[in-house]
Amino acid sequence: MNLVDIIIMGDLMIYLDNAATTFPKPESTYYYMNKYTRETAANPGRGSHSMAVESAEIIFETRELLAEFFNIEDSMNIVFTKNCTESLNIAIKGVLKKGDHVITTSMEHNSVLRPLSTMESRGVAMTIVQADEFGMINPKDIEKEIRKNTRMVVSTHVSNLTGTIMPIEEIGKICREKGVLFMVDSAQSAGLLEIDVKKQNIDILAFPGHKNLFGPMGIGGLYVSEDVEIDTFIEGGTGSMSSEIIQPDFMPDKLESGTPNLPGIAGLKGGLEFILETGRETIRKREDQLVKVFLETISSTWNIESYGPKDLKYRSGVVLVNIKDLDSSELASILDRKYSIAVRPGYHCAPLAHKTIGTYEKGAVRFSMSWFNTLKDIEQASQALIKIAEECGQEE
Ligand SMILES: Cc1ncc(COP(=O)(O)O)c(C=O)c1O
Repeated sequence: MNLVDIIIMGDLMIYLDNAATTFPKPESTYYYMNKYTRETAANPGRGSHSMAVESAEIIFETRELLAEFFNIEDSMNIVFTKNCTESLNIAIKGVLKKGDHVITTSMEHNSVLRPLSTMESRGVAMTIVQADEFGMINPKDIEKEIRKNTRMVVSTHVSNLTGTIMPIEEIGKICREKGVLFMVDSAQSAGLLEIDVKKQNIDILAFPGHKNLFGPMGIGGLYVSEDVEIDTFIEGGTGSMSSEIIQPDFMPDKLESGTPNLPGIAGLKGGLEFILETGRETIRKREDQLVKVFLETISSTWNIESYGPKDLKYRSGVVLVNIKDLDSSELASILDRKYSIAVRPGYHCAPLAHKTIGTYEKGAVRFSMSWFNTLKDIEQASQALIKIAEECGQEE
């Protein structure tokens, strides 16, 4: 297969793997990536010439836009990372200390559970609060687990498996009342749902740039409130205090060393501008509509099982399904090969979430929608799923 074939195939595919990374991106994302690769591609903060200053400016502007987006007072408390996983690792490993207790949930991605498990092996006690069969967390269950030495609660905003929207405002309120730090993994919500760090009492926010914020892969971010004590993750050149061999103690330089991903940050600015122009609520409504049509279309097929909350108010653009007696990888492979539909089977890096909803044995297939999907995509995908289910049913 040559490059032209691959591009043609990309055009023909119905892409429903947006929870992994959104595709395609808005034109503004491509525009900025191109501009800050071809025209303004100097290393920011490493020189005072005008090209370097121009690069530093786009980084500043992106930080400011993110601050506006999440209602963060000082944009300097936002650092750029390579993805949400890196953001989560920086915060989990930089904040928790031996003797601390941390609370998390059974709906977390491995990018939360694995660093937390590492910290457990270094003397941090961990409690995992169980969600219900729809993937929903009851904030009271978190409150009950708070101890004297509880340092932090870490929760996902939206499950990447079931699309369940967690009651983060209530959890944040409990954390504030009890004097516990609240950290949110917004991998599936940033850009799609309201995130207001003040209203929701979020002390630490980890976000990817490449999902609902419509930036390219390779860019993420982390907000850390100034009240949080955090250790550095890596140290190196920051372009500031360069005559010293000690890492600066001020943000964002404290947590941001080395050459930044300029095309990624610029592309993220394009994504943010697109959301501001289109309207976050409008994007959310479109996804709701697609999910509604999909769920209604497949609901009467007896051997299709779907998971997650029944009420659309509590779910994002993710629909998780199984066909009775068909392996999830086999289903995804048929969708890919026979119908050119891109979905994700298996475990979605969320083993405890699969245990919670009862799909640990065979995994499940995730269809995830985004702004650029059309009703036609959804009709074709749901009809393909029904056809495969009917064929499987007949074999019984
Ligand atoms: C809930 C959740 N958290 C964290 C991550 C990790 O994000 P990234 O791929 O940007 O590292 C993902 C990725 O899919 C996710 O869905």
